[in-house]
Order: sequence, then structure tokens, then C-alpha cells
Amino acid sequence: MDNRPIGVLDSGMGGLTAVRELMRVLPNEDIVYFGDTGRVPYGTRSPEIVTRYAIQDINFLLDHNVKMVIAACGTVTTTLPEEVIGRFQFPYTGVLHPTVRAAATATRNGKIGVIATATTIRTGAYERELKAMNHDFSVISKACPMFVPLVENGYVNRDNQVTRLVAEEYLAPLREAGVDTLILGCTHYPVIAGIIGDVMGADVVLIDSGRAAADYAEQMLNQQGLLTGRSGQAKIEFYVSDDPGQFSRNATLFLGSGFQGTAGKVDITAYSDII
Ligand code: DGL
Repeated sequence: MDNRPIGVLDSGMGGLTAVRELMRVLPNEDIVYFGDTGRVPYGTRSPEIVTRYAIQDINFLLDHNVKMVIAACGTVTTTLPEEVIGRFQFPYTGVLHPTVRAAATATRNGKIGVIATATTIRTGAYERELKAMNHDFSVISKACPMFVPLVENGYVNRDNQVTRLVAEEYLAPLREAGVDTLILGCTHYPVIAGIIGDVMGADVVLIDSGRAAADYAEQMLNQQGLLTGRSGQAKIEFYVSDDPGQFSRNATLFLGSGFQGTAGKVDITAYSDII
């Protein structure tokens, strides 16, 4: 049993899709969330920069005495080198393994689409991991760099014509390829799952990376005997590296009534980039 909070990080708001699912599957667990809103997006940056930022984010969470770290960010997950992850002295998960596992179970025709940030798609990590699971899978990947700014700016309503147009353009090759399962490999994307689902069609299964990571974290904590022994109202603290007001206004898009209160402001550059 471990009553310390779970640490969740993202480049901005996207990781809140994982928080939403954690609140559902682990309602008694305290959470500390860090969104690097001052340095978002990560998905257009080089792996070296993303790694440096991610280590600072993790050191911030460790400073808050978390019992595990969830990188609720596809970009961080796919760029953190194995050699860095090997040094972690705490339970850790990103979104890659949980999401790939869920997609492999969901697909019927073996054609799986992956949409994510440009940096994530460039790593080829999703394709590698899916093929390692079953080399008969055919994987079609597509970077969707405009989705993150659209979400961060609140262009998320199902009838938003700008986001719909962008989605139609990005998703056309995946539809043509006949994928029956689509991995939303960036944690911002579940917020516009309504639009993505409309464009892809009702028979395509969408895999929500936030949900998959939350389910996986629940299994890890359970297996390692690290679930909290407390019951009742859990405490969730939010921290960001830019204007907390802006974050609070948009957080309801992700969490609905689950977001109450405010976020603290952090100078993330003051944290070490060594782990
Ligand atoms: N939410 C992040 C991801 O899952 C990244 C968005 C960004 O910073 O570009 O990849």
C-alpha cells in the first residue's frame, strides 16, 4: 500500500485525458499533474530537447513525492531513450505499450492507423511496436501537427468546421487504406475524438492513449501493491509553466466538472535535466 500521489506529465493540456481516466479507474488516488504549457508543443521539437524537458518535468514530479510517473504524452513516450528509462527508480509508464496492446486486441482486419505528432511519427516507435506484436499488421502512420494547437485553443466542438476540415485532410489516407482501428497516439487527440470518429466512420475503433495509459497504470500499481489504502475524496493538484488562468479555462474541455480550482505556476527551468 502506498498513499503517495501518482505523477502525470504532458507538454500541456493533453495529459488531462489520462487524468480523466485515472479519476474514473482509480478514484481514491491523489494525483499531481504537470503540464509544460510554457514550452508546448513538444511534438515539433528534436528528441534531444524533448528528453531534456521530460527529465525536468519528471524531477518536478519526484520533488512532489509521487509514487509513479505516467508520461501522458505520446511525444515524450516515444523519444525518451531506453537508457534514460533504465535509470528510473520508480514505476513508470508512457502511452506506447498500453495503446499498442489495446489496438492489437481491437483490430479485426490487421490494418491499424496511427496519428500523432510529427516527432512521434518520425521515431517510428508505434510501427515498430505493433509489428513486433504481430508482423502481419499493416500500419499506416500520419503526423497531424495542427491538431495540438487547435485543441490548446479550444477548437474542439464536434461541429467546429475548421477542425473538421483539417481532420478530413489528415485522415483521408487512413480511410483509403481501410484501417479498422486508429490509435490516437497523442493525448490531445481524444478531446476531438468526436470529429475524428465522424470523419473515420462508426466502424473504426479509436484507441484513446490517455485511457489506455490509465488502465495500464492501474494494473501496474495493483500488481506492485502500491494502490492507496485511503478511500474518499482524492486530491488532485495541477501545475503549469505558463499562465494558470488560461490552463484553468481550457481544463474543463478535458475534465468537464472534474476540474475544480486552479493550477500553480512553476519555473520548470529551475529543475535538473539529469536523472
Ligand atoms: N500531448 C502530446 C503528445 O501526446 C504532445 C503535444 C505536443 O506538445 O506537441 O504527443
